[in-house]
Amino acid sequence: MSLLTGFEPIVRQAEPLAQHTWFRLGGPAEYFAEPRNIDELQALVRRCAEEGIQIRLLGGGSNVLVRDEGVPGMVVALTESAFGAIKAAGRVITAASGAKLGHLISVAVREGLAGLEPLVGIPGTVGGALHGNAGSRGGDIGQWTCHATVMTRSGEIQQRERDDLTFAYRESSLDELVILEGKFELEQEDPEELTKRMQKHWIVKKANQPLGHQSAGCIFKNPRGMSAGMLIDQAGLKGSRVGGAEVSDLHANFIVADASATSQDVLRLIDLVRSRVAERLGVELETEIEIW
Ligand code: EPU
Repeated sequence: MSLLTGFEPIVRQAEPLAQHTWFRLGGPAEYFAEPRNIDELQALVRRCAEEGIQIRLLGGGSNVLVRDEGVPGMVVALTESAFGAIKAAGRVITAASGAKLGHLISVAVREGLAGLEPLVGIPGTVGGALHGNAGSRGGDIGQWTCHATVMTRSGEIQQRERDDLTFAYRESSLDELVILEGKFELEQEDPEELTKRMQKHWIVKKANQPLGHQSAGCIFKNPRGMSAGMLIDQAGLKGSRVGGAEVSDLHANFIVADASATSQDVLRLIDLVRSRVAERLGVELETEIEIW
């Protein structure tokens, strides 16, 4: 019996991860699985625990840079419809973690439920957004989260109530292997007003960020009270290039990649930006994206 006997319909080997990320860069996953339901996910998580195979969860791939050499072990993506449901009841919306954050926001706005609309334009899944407490200047997902269902590394399903959850700037206490579902308690408002507000947020974001490019959103966290983008800009680094990776001219905290780029180009550009900003402005930047 091989490690993966019984999982053949859902596991592929040497799956190129570039096609699953917004950067479109990086090497293969040793194993890549798209389970069709929670039972299959649970069985896979248990098998990997027994066999000592490392597991990572990939959300929408919009905040991750995969190294060129790829990643060992199992990468799991919750792309199947069983992980995409969104339901509204009163002021609470329940969203499965594989649903797109943009879909959750549009359901909320349609239902006249306010709170998440400042997050419009943030790519990725609900699970990824919860894991990293995605947000913008107008707020973050954590402040509206009242419940989460998670699966631990041993395959146990657990509930997290509001009092068990803590969220900070791009951080959440949801660090179990899998986030399965989130519940969001929102505020009632006129859907037309909400739509207008969402559109305003969207226009501002589109004007200020290179959203149509290969990137992973903001590369660095904002240091307390400062903007990483402004610092990188002030250090004169817009347009700096390593191979096919370039610091965006539109927003300096974005690195955009062209078709010739490798992950190594992006990593070298990240190092260059960090060292120049430290040298010229005395500030140490910390990456916001996950590097696999
Ligand atoms: N700025 C510059 N040059 C630049 C970029 C920005 O001078 O190249 C200045 C702007 O003019 C503004 C200030 O820096 O005065 C702040 O810029 P912005 O409003 O774009 O916000 P930010 O702090 O750079 C944060 C989040 C974004 C989020 C925006 C809008 C982080 C690291 N970034 O950016 O999130 O979209 O606010 O709400 O927290 C992400 O997390 O991936 C991300 C893009």
